[in-house]
Amino acid sequence: MDGKLLERIREAGQEQVLRFYDELPEESRRAFEIQLAEVNWEALPELARDYVLNRPETAIPEDLAPAEFFPLEPQNENMRALYAQADLKGAELLRNGKVCCLTVAGGQGTRLGFDGPKGTYPIGPVSGKTLFEYFAGSIIRTQEKYQTRMLWFIMTSPINRQATEEYFSNNNYLGLQPEQVFFFTQGTMPAFGRNGKLLLGAKDSLSLSPDGHGGTLLALRRSGALAKMAESGCEYISYFQVDNPLVPVADPRFIGLHALENSEMSAIMLSKTNAKEKLGNFCVSNGKVQIIEYSDLPDELAERRNPDGTLAFIAGSPAIHVISRTFVEKLTAGNTLRLPWHRADKKISALDDKGRVCVPDTPNGVKLESFIFDALPLAAKVMILEGDRKEVFAPTKNATGVDSAESCRQMISERNARRLKAAGVALPLHPDGSVDAVIELDPRRVLDDADALELVNKTGLKAILPGEAVVL
Ligand code: UTP
Repeated sequence: MDGKLLERIREAGQEQVLRFYDELPEESRRAFEIQLAEVNWEALPELARDYVLNRPETAIPEDLAPAEFFPLEPQNENMRALYAQADLKGAELLRNGKVCCLTVAGGQGTRLGFDGPKGTYPIGPVSGKTLFEYFAGSIIRTQEKYQTRMLWFIMTSPINRQATEEYFSNNNYLGLQPEQVFFFTQGTMPAFGRNGKLLLGAKDSLSLSPDGHGGTLLALRRSGALAKMAESGCEYISYFQVDNPLVPVADPRFIGLHALENSEMSAIMLSKTNAKEKLGNFCVSNGKVQIIEYSDLPDELAERRNPDGTLAFIAGSPAIHVISRTFVEKLTAGNTLRLPWHRADKKISALDDKGRVCVPDTPNGVKLESFIFDALPLAAKVMILEGDRKEVFAPTKNATGVDSAESCRQMISERNARRLKAAGVALPLHPDGSVDAVIELDPRRVLDDADALELVNKTGLKAILPGEAVVL
């Protein structure tokens, strides 16, 4: 082994990673050394001390206050005029090819427990269309509407890159041109045991996991995605997660306001349904917008009320952003970016001293991840716009229960029912007022209420039958 590398590993106090090195065949040794050479050994002792051996405490600034946001409905004439201008601006930017989509799909989706990239999960309540098909359909409809062509950047991890690409090539790029879909791979971080020592995933490999969605920014630069954006004239990145099929892939008002407000990074906020709802909280401290995770916001602040009884810290984050390309360029100039790390205690399969793979029943180690929202305080200007939860947010985190595939399908059907009702279609109702049907509208045809109305007019649809499962 290269003497310098060995020295760095020793100095970091991590020589246990080499305990099977001598028994490895030559080829595995070489591959392992390449992997080891990429680790920032000098940073490890501090990371182990601050995040693994000790639990990092999120300092809550004294001056922490709720962040301001643009409300869903404009509140006065000026705001009405601004929103109208934003709608036009956003539409113009879309028409001129200034907007691209970015889906982060490098997560491991452990809670959903699905074998395969999460984007290939069948979420359509009737059709079984996958999450990726939902986004592709919405992109296709957006292109038609604005007579444009959008690039779609998809971030994978090294673990799911191949399976994701194969899915697209085996499925005709879901109706898009292969040249407009750009895959890139995020970075990884080695996992720690509770004692601060790195874990081995195999005799010739560390236990590596994706470095969090905060890894997106640097990965955009390192992969050439940023350069590709610049080359194609794309200035605004519409960012969303792979687990939310309701997300508008490119919302003209949101994009337009971002541009008109000269924002570098913008965010959609949702009004929290209760003080402890599991959403990050938009806050401001020292003039900078930041997100405080729900688990870190002290009860006193979470429960604080305005004189009218509404929550003071009402703004929750569904992780929907518009990011200026130039902001990412600025942040990652020099090919580096340091965002804070967040600790996650996880069950991590790892080798024991005898070289056997152990699959633990309880968390045995620590993964470190960075989060995209930690870029907000680095932006010169942040714009936050309220979104309509039932229209834009249905996260698929778990297999059943809250934020599950089940609840997501239900929300897709409910949103479609609302759209059909607004277009004059009679809906069958259960005694409790909920819709007695499962309704799916093809995202390639219906992006918004106007599309739903057009579809209803074209098909002459008058009513949905009780218990019906329909795809339109
Ligand atoms: P989550 O925080 O829900 O994590 O990711 P996850 O890995 O998908 O799911 P669990 O926690 O293992 O059940 C939110 C979004 O960020 C992406 C995910 O793919 C999802 O779109 N993500 C997360 C990445 O792209 N990379 C990461 O390293 C982590």
